[in-house]
Amino acid sequence: MIKKIEQIHWDLKKFIANGQEDIETFKVKYLGKKGKITELFKEFKTLPSREKKYVGAELNRLKNECSEIIFQNKYKLSKNEESLEDLTKSGKPYIFGARHPISLVKNKIINIFNQIGFTSYESPEIEDDWHNFTALNIPYYHPARNMQDTFFIEKDPDILLRTHTSSVQIRYMEKHSPPIRILSSGRVYRNEAISPRSHQMFHQIEGLYVDTKVSFSDLKQMIQYFTNSLFGSSRIRLRPSYFPFTVPSAEVDVYCELKTKTGWLEIMGCGMVNTQVFRNVDIDPDKFSGFAFGMGIERIALFLYKIGDLRLFFENDIRFLRQFESIH
Ligand code: PHE
Repeated sequence: MIKKIEQIHWDLKKFIANGQEDIETFKVKYLGKKGKITELFKEFKTLPSREKKYVGAELNRLKNECSEIIFQNKYKLSKNEESLEDLTKSGKPYIFGARHPISLVKNKIINIFNQIGFTSYESPEIEDDWHNFTALNIPYYHPARNMQDTFFIEKDPDILLRTHTSSVQIRYMEKHSPPIRILSSGRVYRNEAISPRSHQMFHQIEGLYVDTKVSFSDLKQMIQYFTNSLFGSSRIRLRPSYFPFTVPSAEVDVYCELKTKTGWLEIMGCGMVNTQVFRNVDIDPDKFSGFAFGMGIERIALFLYKIGDLRLFFENDIRFLRQFESIH
């Protein structure tokens, strides 16, 4: 029996598998129900007990050797397959992230204004009453201060989530004197019902231009430059409006003929900086004048990308976001 074990031991050593089937046949040949090693185990039972100890140890060693050889051959085969795979298969596609549509529109707008000298300025989302309301000439009885519109964090003194980016105007003018040419973008918050057209958090871009002899016609020219750059149209409509921090004030509509949509789109509120606002930040209104404008990014993005529901921007559904992969 020891001779048989030895013979099989040498046979095992010679084995080199060329494929998965070779391994299977090898396994059946030695360890299968009628395999050579299995047969030896059957024979082993008939041995006289004095031989059992020694032969048993040898037989077990043979069985382990066989399993080890199978394992090693499997490993070698898989390695070969891998390197073959590398050579013949095309590379796996790499999934790039996509810019969020709000960021796409925001960046476009910032680029347009950068070209005419506006630089970016950041300002906090948590504001006090002074910067969000009082300094902007919004009196305490103004409806915008109403509990229904504003998210208050603390009362007396009032700390709140800014309701518009106009607070940036005050923050900047408190620290810098004219000439001023800044752009600020960020989130704003209003306690409104969430619907396809409104949300409690959205994005605005605010611009402020202050210098000597700035006039309303400068504002109009700048708006036309902007609408022409973003929508390819300088056909605009200025509708008289009211903001406590600008006089006169206007709402701007632009006429667009885009692949996605055609028609008038309301894009911003604007006006000449109210002299009271200048006084609140210690800028001399007899020496300086300026204009300010603010626009909602979501509204423009809805229009440009023909999206029907504003809530899609905030759900982060990958199927929605993937559609913007090719836009830069
Ligand atoms: N803050 C105004 C709004 O949220 C927009 C605006 C900004 C109007 C600057 C005039 C000047 O509606």
